[in-house]
Amino acid sequence: MPYLLVLFYSRYGAIAKMAQQVARGIESVAGIEARIRTVPNISTVCEAVEEKIPPAGPPYVTLDDVRGAIGIALGSPTRFGNMAAPLKHFIDSLSGLWFSGELVNKPATVFSSTSSLHGGQESTLLSMMLPLIHLGMIIVGIPYTESDLSTTQTGGTPYGPTHMAGKDSKNPLSDEEKRLCQASGKRLAQMALKLAV
Ligand SMILES: Cc1cc2nc3c(=O)[nH]c(=O)nc-3n(C[C@H](O)[C@H](O)[C@H](O)COP(=O)(O)O)c2cc1C
Repeated sequence: MPYLLVLFYSRYGAIAKMAQQVARGIESVAGIEARIRTVPNISTVCEAVEEKIPPAGPPYVTLDDVRGAIGIALGSPTRFGNMAAPLKHFIDSLSGLWFSGELVNKPATVFSSTSSLHGGQESTLLSMMLPLIHLGMIIVGIPYTESDLSTTQTGGTPYGPTHMAGKDSKNPLSDEEKRLCQASGKRLAQMALKLAV
């Protein structure tokens, strides 16, 4: 069964909740699976390393998870208007796949979460697209035919699904945010199956 990699980093849980909804959208399409993976924390103390297995949640991603996927959904919290360092750290290890061109023409989508409504969701999504474009991937956004884009009072952008997590990441996903996560996963799955033919 072909799979889409849902790769995320989440410190406080908001992005992890979004990843589940994106995976739900992917698995609403017949003939494709979602493989959810995360990345370890990184430390400013360079000698510090994480345990091999995360204490909770999905396993850490491997290069083979990336290589074998027919597309990728990438999720990160917003950190000062940009993606979080642990995810960027992993992306910076993909030069082998850049050289081999193994991700060229595969589709990708991005999702993010902020504590505040105007805290940089869109700039984060755009920053996450840049390495994916270098890797040759085709960016899949959300079209305005998804009516939630026009009515949401919380997250959700044409660049990809987002969540307004509030202080301490405590806000639940709104109905619009959930539907837009699912729509994004579904569209990625449909595109991936077409492109993989
Ligand atoms: C170092 C740091 C920088 C952050 N920068 C922003 C920011 O620029 N804008 C914003 O609204 N929230 C910012 N936040 C809040 C997170 O984006 C927000 O809590 C997010 O929902 C966390 O996702 P998570 O629960 O998956 O870890 C920042 C948090 C940290 C720790």
